[in-house]
Order: sequence, then C-alpha cells, then structure tokens
Amino acid sequence: MAENLFCYFSLLCAALVVAAAAAADQPLPDQPAMEALQKELSATLWKPSSGSSYCSWRGVTCNSTSGSVERIALPRLGLSGNISGVSRLKSLRLLDLSSNYFQGAVPPSLGELPALEYLDLSANNFQGSIPPSLGAIGSLRTLNLSSNSLTGEIPGELKNLLQLEELQISDNRLVGSLPGWIGSLVNLRVLSAYENRLAGSIPDSLGSVSQLRSLNLHSNLLQGPIPGSVFASGRLEVLVLTANRLGGTIPESIGNCSGLSSVRIGNNRLVGTIPSSIGNASGLAYFEADNNWLSGEIPPAFARCLNLTLLNLASNRLSGLVPPELGELRNLQELIASNNSLAGEIPKPLLRCRNLSKLDLSNNRLNGSLPRDLCGASRLQFLLLDRNSIGGAIPPEIGNCARLLELQLGGNRLTGSIPPEIGRIKNLQVALNLSFNSLRGPLPRELGRLDKLVTLDVSNNQLSGSMPPEIKGMLSLITVNFSNNQLSGPVPIFAPFQKSPPSSFSGNKLLCGEPLSSACEGYLGSDGDVVDRRKTSYKVILAVVGSGLTVFVTVSVIVVLFVLREREEMNAKAAAGGAAAVIPSPVIVAGNVFVDSMKQAIDFDSVVRATFRDSNKLASGTFSTVYKAVMPSGVVLYVKRLKSVDKTVVHYQNKMIRELERLGSLCHANLMRPIGYVIYEDVALLLHHHMPNGTLAQFLHETPPDESRPDWPTRLDIAVGVAEGLAFLHQVATIHLDISTSNIFLDAQLNALIGEVEISKLLDPSKGTASISAVAGSFGYIPPEYAYTMQVTAPGNVYSFGVVLLEILTTRLPVDEVFGEGVDLVKWVHSASGRNESPEQIMDARLSTVSFAWRKQMLATLKIAMLCTDRTPAKRPKMKKVVEMLIEVKQN
Ligand SMILES: *[C@@H]1O[C@H](CO)[C@@H](O)[C@H](O)[C@H]1NC(C)=O
Ligand SMILES: *[C@@H]1O[C@H](CO)[C@@H](O)[C@H](O)[C@H]1NC(C)=O
Ligand SMILES: *[C@@H]1O[C@H](CO)[C@@H](O)[C@H](O)[C@H]1NC(C)=O
Ligand SMILES: *[C@@H]1O[C@H](CO)[C@@H](O)[C@H](O)[C@H]1NC(C)=O
Ligand SMILES: *[C@@H]1O[C@H](CO)[C@@H](O)[C@H](O)[C@H]1NC(C)=O
Ligand SMILES: *[C@@H]1O[C@H](CO)[C@@H](O)[C@H](O)[C@H]1NC(C)=O
Ligand SMILES: *[C@@H]1O[C@H](CO)[C@@H](O)[C@H](O)[C@H]1NC(C)=O
Ligand SMILES: *[C@@H]1O[C@H](CO)[C@@H](O)[C@H](O)[C@H]1NC(C)=O
Ligand SMILES: *[C@@H]1O[C@H](CO)[C@@H](O)[C@H](O)[C@H]1NC(C)=O
Repeated sequence: MAENLFCYFSLLCAALVVAAAAAADQPLPDQPAMEALQKELSATLWKPSSGSSYCSWRGVTCNSTSGSVERIALPRLGLSGNISGVSRLKSLRLLDLSSNYFQGAVPPSLGELPALEYLDLSANNFQGSIPPSLGAIGSLRTLNLSSNSLTGEIPGELKNLLQLEELQISDNRLVGSLPGWIGSLVNLRVLSAYENRLAGSIPDSLGSVSQLRSLNLHSNLLQGPIPGSVFASGRLEVLVLTANRLGGTIPESIGNCSGLSSVRIGNNRLVGTIPSSIGNASGLAYFEADNNWLSGEIPPAFARCLNLTLLNLASNRLSGLVPPELGELRNLQELIASNNSLAGEIPKPLLRCRNLSKLDLSNNRLNGSLPRDLCGASRLQFLLLDRNSIGGAIPPEIGNCARLLELQLGGNRLTGSIPPEIGRIKNLQVALNLSFNSLRGPLPRELGRLDKLVTLDVSNNQLSGSMPPEIKGMLSLITVNFSNNQLSGPVPIFAPFQKSPPSSFSGNKLLCGEPLSSACEGYLGSDGDVVDRRKTSYKVILAVVGSGLTVFVTVSVIVVLFVLREREEMNAKAAAGGAAAVIPSPVIVAGNVFVDSMKQAIDFDSVVRATFRDSNKLASGTFSTVYKAVMPSGVVLYVKRLKSVDKTVVHYQNKMIRELERLGSLCHANLMRPIGYVIYEDVALLLHHHMPNGTLAQFLHETPPDESRPDWPTRLDIAVGVAEGLAFLHQVATIHLDISTSNIFLDAQLNALIGEVEISKLLDPSKGTASISAVAGSFGYIPPEYAYTMQVTAPGNVYSFGVVLLEILTTRLPVDEVFGEGVDLVKWVHSASGRNESPEQIMDARLSTVSFAWRKQMLATLKIAMLCTDRTPAKRPKMKKVVEMLIEVKQN
C-alpha cells in the first residue's frame, strides 16, 4: 500500500522545524536543486521554513551518508509545474510522480539522471512524444508513462535500455509500430502498450525476450499473426491482445506455457482451429477468444486446464458438439459459446460443474431436450439457451434452479405447458424469456411469486386461458410481452401492464382492456383492486421512515451560515439587467485562492457570474448548489454556493474565512478541499477543482449498461480511498455530516475524494461559526440511532460508510422499493441469510463471477460492510480499523 498520503499543515510544520534543527550544521548537496524544485511544484506540501533539510520533506528519501536525494515519491497529490529541474538530482534512483496534473512535454533532461532505476510519470497529462533522451538512462528498470497524452512513435533510442524490466506506455496516443528491437530488451518482464494507435504487426523478435511474463497490447490497430515465438520461452503468464486486427491462427506453441493463466484475444480476425496443445497450458484460468473467425470444434483438451474459470468463445464459427469433457472443469464459472454453430444436446456433464454460474449457449444449433437435472448440482445464475432447436417440455425440475437470475429459452421448439414450478425460482430477476416456442396451456398463477422479476416475455406461443390475477404479485415488472398467444379475458389492472404499449398484449384475439383498445364488456368490475406502483413506493418509503427515521423527515434541516438571498431573487436581478454581460459585477468582499499555481487562472468576477446562469447548475444538495464555471483562462471549476436560511449571522463571516483558509491547508488525497472562496455582499462561494468523473453515485448507478461497468479493483480502490479520507477526518476530530455516494467525487484517475467536508467543518457547532438545529445527512445513509440521539457521531459516519460499501458491492441504491416494504439496502443485506440467500445473490453478480480473486475480495468486503452497519453503534469498528481491514482485503 502506498504510504499514507495525508499531511496536516501544522503537523508538517512541526516536522520541518525539527528536521531543520537537526540539519542546521551542514549544507546538503542537493539544497539548491530541491529549493528550485519546491518553487516549481505548485503544492502546499513542501513549505520549508528556511534552512530546513529537504530530506524530511514529504516523499523525499536521502542517502543517509551523503545526504543526496535518492527517491522522490509524490503520487496522487494534485501536483503540477515544470519538473525538468529534477535532472539536477544526480543520485536519484526513483522518481514517482504518477497521478498528478503535470502537463507539457516529458522533460528530456530526465535522460541526464545516471542512477535512475524507476521512473513513473503515469496518469498525468504529459503531451508530445517520448523523449529519445530517456534511452540514455542505462540503469532504468521500470518505465511507466501510461495514461498520458503522448503522441508520436516509440523512439528507437529506447533500445539502449538493456536493464529494462517493465515498460508501460499504455493509454496514450502513440502511433507507428512496435519496433523489432524490443527483442533486444532481454530483461523485459512486462510490456504494456494497450490503448494506443499502434499499427503493424507484433514483432517476432519478442521471442528473444525470454523473461516476458505479461504482454498487454489490447485496443490498438495491430495486424498480422500472433507470433508463435511469444510462447517459445514458456514463461508467458498473461497475454492480452483483445480488440486489434490480428489475423492468422492461434499458434500451436501456446501449449509451451504451462504458467499461462490469462489469454484474452477476443475481437480480432483470428481464423483456424483452437490448437489442442491448449491443454498443455494447464495453468489457464481465463480464455477469452470471442468475436473472431475461429472454426472447427472446441478442443476437449480444455478439460486439462483444471483451473479454467472463464471460457468465452462466443461469436465465432465453431461447430461440432460442446465437449462433455468440459464437465471435469470443477472451477469453471462461465462458459460462453453463443453465436456459433454448435450442435448436439446440452452436455449433461457440464451441469455437474458445481461452480458454473453462467452457461450461455444461445444462438447455436443445439437440439435434444432440456435435461431434468438442469440445476441439480450447479449454482447457475444465468442460463441462456435461446435461439437453438431445443425441443420437449420445460421440466418441472426447473423449480430447483433456486439461484437463477436470468432464464433465456426463447426461440426454441419447446412444447407442453409452462410448469407451475417456475414460480419457485424466487431469485429470477433479470429476465424470464420463453418467447417463440410452442408452449400451450394457461399462464400458471405461480408466476405471481416472481416478485423480483423485471422482464417477462412469453410472446409468440400458443398460451391460452385468462391472465390470472395472481400475476400482479410480480412487483418488480417493468417490461412484459404477452403478444401473439391465445389469451382471453381482461388484462389485469396492474400498473406495469397498463403502462406497457398495446403491442405487449396484441395478437391475442380474445384479450381486452387497457392498454388494448378493445374494452371488456361484461368483464368490468371483476378485477377491482388497483395496485399502483406510485402508491407502493410511497408505502415503502413511509415504512422505511416509520422504522426509525421519521425524525429525518420532520426535522427541518436548518443550516445557518450567513445571509443568502434566494436564488429566484438573483435570477430576477439577472433578468432585469438583461444579458449576463450587462450585470454590474457585485462588490467582492473577500476572496482567496489557496493553490498558488491557480491564482492566475481564477477570475473572481467570472466565478460570480457563472452562478447567475441556470445552465451552469450541476447539482443542488442539502447544503449547497453547485455550478460549473469556466474561467477565461480555460480552467474549469466547481463553484459551490452555500445555502442558508438564517439572516442574522453576517458577523460570522470573519470566523468563516479563517475556517476556510485553515481547510485549504488541510490536505489528504481523499478529501476534496476548497481551492479558494469568494464572498460578495452576503453570498459565499467555495471553489473546487472540476471533477471530470462526477460522483460515485453517478459512477455506480448511471453508467449505461452497455458500457463497461466499473470493475471490482476500481471499486475497491475507491472504497479504500473513501475510508482513508474519513479516517483522516476522524483523526483531526471532524465528523462528516453527510456521507453518501453523491458526496464522493471521482477525479480523472478515479481517485475518490470526499466532498462537503467544509460544510461539516463550517457547521460544527462547537466551532461557533454556525448554529444548527439538526443535520441528518442523506436518506438511506442515516444511522438508526440518529432517531433518538439526533447527533451525527463517528460511529454514525462508520454506518454511512458501510452503506456506501454495500452500494459498491451490490450496485444497488440505498433505498429502493425492490427490497420490499420497510426494507432498505442495509436491512435487505442483513436479512439475506434469513431468506436463504447466498452472498452471490446480494453482490453484483456481474463482478463476483468474473474471477475467484474478485469474489473472494468481495466476500471479505461484504463482511466489513456488515460490521460497519451493525445496529449497535458501539459494535461498529473505528474508521482506522476499517482502513486496515480493507487494505488487507486488497493485498490478499
Ligand atoms: C550512499 O551513497 C554512496 C555513494 O555516494 C553509496 O556508496 C551508498 O551505497 C549510498 N548508501 C545507500 C544506503 O544507498
Ligand atoms: C521547463 O523548463 C525548462 C528549462 O527551465 C524549459 O526548457 C522547458 O521548456 C520547460 N517546460 C515546460 C513544459 O514548460
Ligand atoms: C507503472 O508501472 C510500474 C511497472 O509496471 C508499476 O509497478 C506501477 O504500479 C505503475 N504505476 C501506476 C501508477 O500504475
Ligand atoms: C515451444 O514451442 C516450440 C515451437 O512449437 C518448440 O520448438 C519448443 O521446443 C517448445 N519449447 C518448450 C520448452 O516446450
Ligand atoms: C504437451 O506436453 C506433453 C508433455 O509435456 C508433450 O509430450 C506434448 O507434445 C505436448 N503437446 C503439445 C501439443 O504441445
Ligand atoms: C491452479 O491455481 C492454483 C491456485 O491459484 C495454483 O496454486 C495452481 O498451481 C494452479 N494450477 C496449475 C496447474 O497451474
Ligand atoms: C468452486 O470454487 C471454489 C473456489 O471459489 C473452490 O474452493 C471449490 O472447490 C470449487 N467447487 C468445486 C466443486 O470444485
Ligand atoms: C451474440 O450475438 C448477438 C447478436 O449479434 C449479440 O447481441 C450478443 O451479444 C452475442 N453474444 C455474445 C455472448 O457475444
Ligand atoms: C441433433 O443434432 C445432432 C448433430 O447435429 C444430430 O446428429 C441429431 O440427429 C440431432 N437430433 C435430433 C433429434 O434432431
């Protein structure tokens, strides 16, 4: 884990004074260079009092004998400035400036560092090409330039980096080809150049890089074959070539690599058969080769890769049978082979893979019938067999598929009726699709038990009879399709039905009532009770509230800072003044920018004017309204206009300014601290960096489903970040008043920053800056004890953090009617074992089924979340402990 990044100005000062005293007697060799560098780095982190030893500066490590600087490690600190002066530190061995805001060219002068072994400039905004001079650093072993905006080709001079072990240049805009001389970097273990615009072919010379463990070149424009030589040494462990234009066949020599654990070569133009030597790559855990032109049969030799967890061969031209031998893969979690030409029956041995959670054989030519013991032994969650030629009846044993989340059987030749046992698949929630078959008989009443199901499609069958009223038990339904059957009688009055388009019910001659245009004469009144979704949600909320949070609703949240005019008033003024340009700028009472490098870039008048425009409004929270403000310099800011309802406290302004300035120097990588403020008339605006990735709430809940979801490692990093930020706040005796995913912001590198810290600080009654009746936080995050204590405490913060963790684990909202009446996310999770639900059914299955490692980490994190959300405040761990536990999860 990275060193603890926080600093607290006063602590830092103290440390510096001590260090200065110790070092006062002898001059240090790098003093001028370090002082020059300190002036460049636009950060509050190095504020040396004169004469202090740079060896005690944050992130700096010196040689204990000579006093020269050997390491500078300053990742994730929001730094910018010109670092070319670093080249004066001739003893430097490690330079880590990753995840900052450096821009411009990578300084060519870095090539003048004769002892440099580790250079990490990743995740900045460096532009231009990779300086050829870096090739002169003969001692370099790790070079990481990934996640910048570098252009041009990989300079040939880098071929002199004969000691290089790790080369990471991914996520840039590099062009040209991968040079053949890479083969001369014989010590290279890791080569990552993914997400660039590299063209040409993968050089055959990689075969000489006998130490290569990881080759990741995905998302480029690479052509030509996968050279067999990359497997020659037998040491390759990870091969990721997804999303290129690679052709040719998968080399036979892949079997050389017994340690190969991950092969991802999907989205290319690979042809030919999958070599059966794959069985010799016995350590294989992931094999993903979807969206290619692979043909022939699935080699039964895969069965020798006993660690195989995921096998994705979808969208190829594979034919033949699904080898029954795959049933020996006890660790297999996902078998995805849809969109091929696979034939024969569903291989029964496969259903014995106890860990199998996803079986996707849709759009093939499978025939035969559905095996009776479909879910006999496995933990199937996704069973996708649609668009095949499967005949026979749906076996009643389908009711044993207790863990199933999605069942796709559409487009087959199924006959018989829908077995009532289907109502026993209580967990079915994603979809039940039986469309385009030859099913007959009535809709079973038991369908009504599927109260989590969102999508139901039974269209295009020969189902008959009336629609049973019990069907209204399907409380979560959103999309339905009953069309083209022989159903009769009235469509039950049920909001999801009436909200559907008529086409969902059309093609049933004898069906009547809304949303169909044919009215039901003679039927009316037989179905009187109206279940309205709005009513349901209202009931749910009331019940949740009634269960201990009533107070939240009845307590008016009164935030008192100083007088603020109503926004409407402001708008009226703006309107009266005509266009924004004509508004006379208000007299600014006070304003300051804490970050030196930004002083020039921020114009207070522009800040104020930005808040006059509604189109700049980004969000409106409990305590503030947030605007986006674009400065004339091009810098984009978040401007927070504080809300207030009391008009008597104007005289607190000075205290407030002092508090703000203090907050500006309070720094921790996971706190979003103000970079300045503007006070005019009686309005206070707080300035923040623009957060391009929005809030954690948006990140978790608003990512379009088609886009890649935030993955588990990213989520865990975010959780750790939030925990660290909160632990730091508690350490400096600050209670956050409103922990929620809407108050956690994500910077360009997806680091989590806790927002609204200043609100918590400014509103702290003990500070005398404000008086508040009650501040409760956000709905769903409020600890149960708040109902009677009316106080937000440190354990209360831990509870709210636990809710955030649960949200990260489940991708569910903290309050949602799908949990049922009176149940919020916390209750839903805590009562899972009572409902006989496994953790799998709680955690986001799209993450937990990706790998054992992820699942294990998620389970461990779930345990922590359960502790944090314990009803009894005293039983919840301290934030410091939570950080330790989460870091342990991450390291395992
Ligand atoms: C300190 O520097 C000297 C040479 O200047 C070198 O010999 C020694 O190994 C260094 N010490 C450490 C701990 O790296
Ligand atoms: C940084 O400073 C050096 C010399 O002081 C100069 O040559 C270089 O152009 C500067 N780089 C940037 C990005 O401003
Ligand atoms: C940069 O790459 C090196 C070498 O692969 C790696 O150890 C380091 O963690 C990377 N840095 C970041 C910020 O990912
Ligand atoms: C690796 O594969 C190549 C080509 O298939 C073969 O010549 C070589 O002997 C293999 N090496 C090992 C260690 O198996
Ligand atoms: C697989 O390994 C065995 C023994 O290690 C070897 O005899 C065989 O030739 C290999 N098969 C392939 C296809 O590489
Ligand atoms: C399978 O995975 C386990 C655990 O990661 C590992 O110890 C074992 O060596 C792997 N098996 C093979 C054949 O690589
Ligand atoms: C399923 O996977 C787990 C690891 O998550 C493993 O411990 C277990 O042995 C596997 N189940 C079977 C039946 O092999
Ligand atoms: C199979 O093809 C369909 C339609 O082209 C596509 O939507 C689906 O994602 C494919 N399945 C897989 C697993 O790639
Ligand atoms: C199922 O498919 C296999 C392979 O194509 C074929 O041999 C067999 O006759 C088919 N069975 C039925 C019942 O159609």
